[in-house]
Amino acid sequence: MAVNVRKISEQELEAQRAYEQKALSLLQKRYTSKPLACVITYGCQQNVADSERIKGMLEKMGYGFTDDRLSAKLIIFNTCAVREHAEDRVFGNVGSLKKYKLSNPDVVIALCGCMMQQQHIADKIKQSFPFVDLVFGTHVIHRVPELIYKALTQKKRIFELPDEDGVIAEGLPVKRDNDKKAWIPIMYGCNNFCSYCIVPYVRGRERSRKVEDVVKEFKGLVNEGYKEITLLGQNVNSYGKDLEPAVNFSELLRILNDVDGDFRIRFMTSHPKDCTKELLETMAQCDKVACHLHLPFQSGNNRVLKAMNRGYTREKYLELINYARELMGDELSITSDIIVGFPGETYEEFQDTLSLIEEIKATSLFTFIYSPRKGTPAAEMDDPISYDEKSKWLRELLALQEKISASQMALHKGKTFKCFVYGKGKLGDNYLAARTDGNLIIEFEGDDRLIGTFKKIKVTEPLTYVMKGELERM
Ligand code: 5AD
Ligand code: SF4
Repeated sequence: MAVNVRKISEQELEAQRAYEQKALSLLQKRYTSKPLACVITYGCQQNVADSERIKGMLEKMGYGFTDDRLSAKLIIFNTCAVREHAEDRVFGNVGSLKKYKLSNPDVVIALCGCMMQQQHIADKIKQSFPFVDLVFGTHVIHRVPELIYKALTQKKRIFELPDEDGVIAEGLPVKRDNDKKAWIPIMYGCNNFCSYCIVPYVRGRERSRKVEDVVKEFKGLVNEGYKEITLLGQNVNSYGKDLEPAVNFSELLRILNDVDGDFRIRFMTSHPKDCTKELLETMAQCDKVACHLHLPFQSGNNRVLKAMNRGYTREKYLELINYARELMGDELSITSDIIVGFPGETYEEFQDTLSLIEEIKATSLFTFIYSPRKGTPAAEMDDPISYDEKSKWLRELLALQEKISASQMALHKGKTFKCFVYGKGKLGDNYLAARTDGNLIIEFEGDDRLIGTFKKIKVTEPLTYVMKGELERM
């Protein structure tokens, strides 16, 4: 499924920079102090990364930032379409701004992200939310300066939702939320069409950023002092298949691991179908790559996996986990996503998910009750189990995982982990908080000057959600 990738040209970017300048002088004339923008982000890290680019462009246009919607002159909702619950929250939150907009007509309200890429949602906004000024899709983020400028100067509402899905924009300004932890999207889109999932319809086909572009951004971050850098993609394991010459994800990891500096590389999400032994070996061999594998299995039952169009079996999944454990031992942390109550799933089939959970002993799980998504094959399947019943199954799953997490935590007593000290702790005034490769939190007593560095910490007392530890003297 090759896609015609179109890199946004320097000319197009230049045109956008001209809009940034036009917006800047317009806003300076319109307001005596810096107007504030509030960007509200739902959903996955890709959306967080998109919002950081949107904010980068807004900053150039002269906006400051606030979390308080009611003091903002520009409010942008960057939405998620993966589950209905996230969509309902957006409708609720946008609806609650109606009064504010009516009494402040100069305020611009904009919606973007995956939800907007669905026609029925864009139609609903058009009809039922007349106070929304601007709606734009996932493929035109680089045109934010132009779209906001038009929203500031035109009376007409703007709906900019082109279908073109092969776009990659390099060189956009980024305003990052954190000064130690950063996201780098390495690819966009998804080709997998899992039968329950809306992502391939709203994010388009897979397309990879060039190795040199990723490396340039990565080195820039390391030079700026970033310590935890997460590579993002819906399925990072298929990174590079569309590049010329083809390059694979393991090769990219090795290149980044060789960059000079003290940092940790994370990545997500891996798809079991494309997760290779080479990738696991690369993780084990590269000292700067975190021994953390986020490998969603969704279900432990082979019939359900087939109906989900996942392209692997429970046995293949376990084979990968066992090999990864063989290579990385106790250092490895596994996390996963699970869907409970896929259409037609029986209670017996759900028991296979529970038994898989017992086998893999994940550090933590992200669990979701199936949510029908219009336009996906699963939404057309018979779904006889009630939501209440599915909620009961989910509670059973969570109780099991809680026991597993607690016994896993207990096993860590006396072990030493390389941790990134990211801030103040909560256990007491002189406690600091640090994160292991597997995203476990250890709190220990230490000097504030350790914040922002990697340290070895020995676990002295595993508690329920965090562990107590002490700094290992070197
Ligand atoms: N219903 C419930 N969960 C879903 N996910 C994706 N689509 C759906 C859906 N329709 C979950 C999957 C995926 C995670 C990001 O969201 O578990 O891995
Ligand atoms: Fe959705 Fe499957 Fe693609 Fe993940 S791999 S984004 S679950 S279609």
